[in-house]
Amino acid sequence: MIGRNDACFCGSGKKWKKCHYPDAGNLAYKENLKDVYKKKYGILLKTDKEIEGIRESCRLASKILDATCQMAKAGVTTNELNEFAHQMHVDHGAIPAPLHYGDPPFPKSICTSLNDVICHGIPDDKPLKDGDILNIDVTCILNGFFGDCSRMVLIGKVDEEKRHVTEVAHECLMRAIDILKPGLPLYEIGEAIESYAQSQNCSVVNQFIGHGVGIHFHESPQVYHHRNSTKTPLAPGMTFTIEPMINLGAREAVIDEKDQWTARTIDGKASAQWEHTILITDTGHEVLTTWKKDT
Ligand code: MF3
Ligand code: CO
Ligand code: CO
Repeated sequence: MIGRNDACFCGSGKKWKKCHYPDAGNLAYKENLKDVYKKKYGILLKTDKEIEGIRESCRLASKILDATCQMAKAGVTTNELNEFAHQMHVDHGAIPAPLHYGDPPFPKSICTSLNDVICHGIPDDKPLKDGDILNIDVTCILNGFFGDCSRMVLIGKVDEEKRHVTEVAHECLMRAIDILKPGLPLYEIGEAIESYAQSQNCSVVNQFIGHGVGIHFHESPQVYHHRNSTKTPLAPGMTFTIEPMINLGAREAVIDEKDQWTARTIDGKASAQWEHTILITDTGHEVLTTWKKDT
């Protein structure tokens, strides 16, 4: 953690408190910091107006996610969840970001990743069954701004191992979020996640990562969930996801040859993931994709 009297993370050689230290009285600091982050890291620090738009999009994404999760029960197909979520985007004037995204174009509006599927599962006509664990991932575009979140649903009676990996993945996300504030080097996120996962005999997928989000679907920086040495310091106005994928067995992911999207564990053991979009504020952080909101 850098202190007020340490060298500023922008490389000026000045003390942090005399340079880019968050200070409402220093009117120039935000514009200057924006330029530095763009040039040095390719990171878009968002303006207050952009943050307002991203906050709205994130709120809607979490609302759609919440409602879709409530529909996930034994006997329901993931295609039915997809259709429900798609309609909810439309009803709120939003666009589901996954639909036609990438190459080959992703064919559905949400990702549904079941049991040994790590991420990017494609909704289909197979009904959910007792004992399944399911990740639902919603990314919406509202007024041009992106909000991205996912969570796990347990279907009926789930065995101890699958419950374990689901809980460990959630705890990994929450431990990483807890430490976020300006100046924190990015590698601390991977440290928090992998040290806890290992202590619980789980592995951390390193082939998929969190990402900057808000103006685009996937922006800088890349947010690694495994141990790494990325020293980029967090700065106010950053918006990014943390979305750890945690496995009961080996960390390796294998991508389906036919659809080019579905990522499964190499050993067929279960995987779990939770995701939030987070804003770095002047003093700490704010989770933008909150699941319980009165609006
Ligand atoms: N929502 C996913 C993420 O968290 C990305 C899905 S890519 C898609 O980054 F094409 F499958 F939508
Ligand atoms: Co994401
Ligand atoms: Co997502």
